[in-house]
Amino acid sequence: MPTEALMETVIPGPPLRRGKVRDVYDLGDYLLLVATDRISAYDVVMANGIPGKGEMLTRMSKFWFDGFADTVPNHVESLIEEAPPELRPYASQLRGRAMLCRKLKMVPIECVVRGYLAGSGWRDYQETQSICGVPLPAGLKQCEQLPKPIFTPATKAEEGHDENITFEQACEIAGEKLMQKLRDLSLQVYQQGAEYARKRGIIIADTKLEWGLDGKEIVLADEVLTPDSSRFWPAGRYEPGRDQESFDKQYVRNYLTELVSRGEWDKKPPGPELPAEIVANTASKYRQAYRQLTGLA
Ligand SMILES: Nc1ncnc2c1ncn2[C@@H]1O[C@H](COP(=O)(O)OP(=O)(O)O)[C@@H](O)[C@H]1O
Ligand SMILES: [Mg+2]
Repeated sequence: MPTEALMETVIPGPPLRRGKVRDVYDLGDYLLLVATDRISAYDVVMANGIPGKGEMLTRMSKFWFDGFADTVPNHVESLIEEAPPELRPYASQLRGRAMLCRKLKMVPIECVVRGYLAGSGWRDYQETQSICGVPLPAGLKQCEQLPKPIFTPATKAEEGHDENITFEQACEIAGEKLMQKLRDLSLQVYQQGAEYARKRGIIIADTKLEWGLDGKEIVLADEVLTPDSSRFWPAGRYEPGRDQESFDKQYVRNYLTELVSRGEWDKKPPGPELPAEIVANTASKYRQAYRQLTGLA
């Protein structure tokens, strides 16, 4: 197991965009998406990272992209195991955690699918008994499974929080025909993935998918069904009516809650340094999620 966390990649030359977790290099027709070991909670990146997290995330996405290949085309050219010659000097920053992807025209909508009532969905439900304009039955509890998964799009905010919007608003932004297709495809991907994960002891409560266009072809992009883009809950501990333990970030959350209650952190950047024990436990959770889902070592 890796002992050091990779916090930033540095590949000279191509333009770089740093997300919260991923470093994205523009290689012309292709993008190099590199998942670092950074970890965020409450939308804030922590001071230190989780060794091996980026690799687990990238390999998990790859596993799903391959698994869904019969259902939808995806943006993956290759997982970087062996760096191409021009990137060889940076192989240690890339191995297992970088994906070479087709550069797409991204659809500016976050395609969120929810199977359970959590997060902003739970908040909206309490106020309006609906999420993104989708009406729901009365009397549902926090984190309860929905009668069937629903599509609840959001805007793609460059900075700050994404905003939930109705399907009609998404159609105004991206076009109705396209959104109908993306809704159906997103529901299909979520349903297949969630069903598979459930048999392996993980509830995927909800997820965010991103789609892009290559000419007229609709292509699944970004990352897929990872703990960073979805809520993963340990199925064995699932109990509606309360907040659920997160499969991967529970140790970090608990630690941060303590810090906040002691007045040592206000949930604003910069993120605090996580103690070694929290880091180690979290690293092993990511590894466990990966193994449990994929059956790979
Ligand atoms: N195939 C692709 N073509 C073009 N852009 C993509 C592709 N796949 C993902 N992206 C974009 O790359 C960016 C990833 O960066 P970002 O989301 O900021 O990283 P993080 O998820 O670590 O915060 C997103 O804006 C996403 O829409
Ligand atoms: Mg993102």
